[in-house]
Amino acid sequence: MSVANEFSEVKRVTTRTLQEMKVKGEKISMLTAYDFSLAKIVDHGGIDVILVGDSASNVMAGHETTLPITLDQMIYHAQSVVRAVKRALVIVDLPFGAYQGNSKEALNSAIRIMKESGAHGVKLEGGSEVKESVERIISAGIPVMGHLGLTPQSIYKFGTYVVRAKEDEEAEKLISDAKVLQEAGCFSIVLEKIPAKLAKKVSESIKIPTIGIGAGGGTDGQVLVLHDMLGINKEFSPRFLRRYANLFDDIHKAVESYVKDVKSLDFPNEKEQY
Ligand code: KIV
Repeated sequence: MSVANEFSEVKRVTTRTLQEMKVKGEKISMLTAYDFSLAKIVDHGGIDVILVGDSASNVMAGHETTLPITLDQMIYHAQSVVRAVKRALVIVDLPFGAYQGNSKEALNSAIRIMKESGAHGVKLEGGSEVKESVERIISAGIPVMGHLGLTPQSIYKFGTYVVRAKEDEEAEKLISDAKVLQEAGCFSIVLEKIPAKLAKKVSESIKIPTIGIGAGGGTDGQVLVLHDMLGINKEFSPRFLRRYANLFDDIHKAVESYVKDVKSLDFPNEKEQY
């Protein structure tokens, strides 16, 4: 599938592309985005997958957890991102409360996301407990990405954001869940904040690509939250986060300069008016 944009003929990334990348050993790049303007820059930057993550609940809405964001709000963010993207595969998180009830609820939520936003697939958290939902969504032709390890929608069950699956029992369950998700038809699985050794083992034991965050270099791809890697959010500094920009300071400086210029009557000058 290919589309024309203002620069060139662009070949779209599909779930099949990601599978081929795993086979070739080419790493997959994924970032979050929640709005038109930043999604456009991220897409132009050559990213493979854009995740409209429920981390929008934290970085866009200022909530402490991902739990409050609603399906309607996720669809709004997804619509804005889809309008901007020419190349990347766009995946949207099913928010907390939109799929845990039963597989019919999960399917209805996934259908709303696909129909109302034009996104290319959905992501949901959990292993064997969401198997039926994954199968039902996929049977409707909707690609599903899984998410194991530190699944933020379960933060109140975990009680902490520390690394998951350090003990054998949880690690065994995670390996088994990855296989369940693969058999249910997931096209990829996010592995969040688990030991690098375990993430590598999981990645080598399944055929579908894994995408890690805080899971080391042995996964088939990497994902970061855009606002964290751009340094917009200064409070969040886990070990796994590499900052590629310092936008908090850059924007802060720009705002300070603007305020100074307005107050001192420096802005607007002769050339900046009609
Ligand atoms: O919502 C999100 O941003 C995510 C990533 C951390 C994988 O699920």
